[in-house]
Amino acid sequence: MTSSPASGTYIPSRRPRRLRTSPVMRNFTAETDLNPNRFVLPMFIADHENSASAEPTPISSLPGVVQHTEDSLLTAIEEAIEAGVAAVDLFGVPLPEDKDATGTAGIAEDGVLNKALARARKEFGDDVLIIADTCLDEFTDHGHCGVLSTDRWGHTIIDNDATLDSYAAMAVAQAEAGAHIVSPSGMMDGQVRRIREALDAAGHQDVSIMAYSAKYASAFYGPFREAVGSSLEGDRRQYQQDARNLRESLLETQLDIDEGADIVMVKPAMPYLDVLREVAEMSTVPVAAYQVSGEYAMISAAAERGWLDREACILESLTGIARAGADIILTYWATEAAKLLSR
Ligand code: PBG
Repeated sequence: MTSSPASGTYIPSRRPRRLRTSPVMRNFTAETDLNPNRFVLPMFIADHENSASAEPTPISSLPGVVQHTEDSLLTAIEEAIEAGVAAVDLFGVPLPEDKDATGTAGIAEDGVLNKALARARKEFGDDVLIIADTCLDEFTDHGHCGVLSTDRWGHTIIDNDATLDSYAAMAVAQAEAGAHIVSPSGMMDGQVRRIREALDAAGHQDVSIMAYSAKYASAFYGPFREAVGSSLEGDRRQYQQDARNLRESLLETQLDIDEGADIVMVKPAMPYLDVLREVAEMSTVPVAAYQVSGEYAMISAAAERGWLDREACILESLTGIARAGADIILTYWATEAAKLLSR
């Protein structure tokens, strides 16, 4: 006899709903945990001409995110630490007149980013991981992630190997300033090995490399370009990946691991969750995912109109990224999400 009554009505005996009966039960059986110990807060530090009187500058396409002054940066880092956030990732915004063809201000000890790294490390020691963005685009007057040259036919190209010298110098300067982790985001071939060699030669064996391994040429970086006052005209398709490719991400990731990456990254997150899943499956080092400016802007804008529940969408979007396989998540909501999770 089956458990069905004579009428033939089917009564399920397997009932997945049993594990959904109460919040405690749902937490008890959840497959994914969001943990602020794995959050990174990306932050912008701007050179303000009159630093004494300067105020943080809002970024209109990223409501709630600002270009910090050194003082407001320290306050915001402290708030992040108190909320439980593990790491901050600093991006520099130099004065337009300090940009040049090779991004000198990104390497100079007194450049806006290196000064902020030094101050933050001095202030917070090892209470938070200080990550430095290791890329030239904020510091070049043409806005590209590398230095330019011309090929035999007179076309402008982003010169891969010449750029590696700059990245090596930049990473060493960031390590000297106090970064725990340097983070090459320019998608030049061989960047991880060159940076590792340069760091080791300078005595920075303990500084880690978080490599942007699978970084796509994405329209979702739009608001970031405002955030850093980007000078870019054109696009980055000569060096960032094509959205149509997944296998290529596995190659990029394997190369970065072989070159010495301590952490690899997939970016953006939401339109590339399939890539994230496959990278997480093949990687032998921790995997980060970057919820980029456009992902933040979409949810913020819809929530401002009352079309989405902001806090619920923040947590759901981060949960999706974690479920897809991210160990570490970079998000402009790091502090806020950490607070939401502790409620
Ligand atoms: C470039 C860089 C970009 C972002 C992080 N690093 C922009 C780009 O590649 O054009 C985008 C981050 C975001 O959109 O939040 N070094």
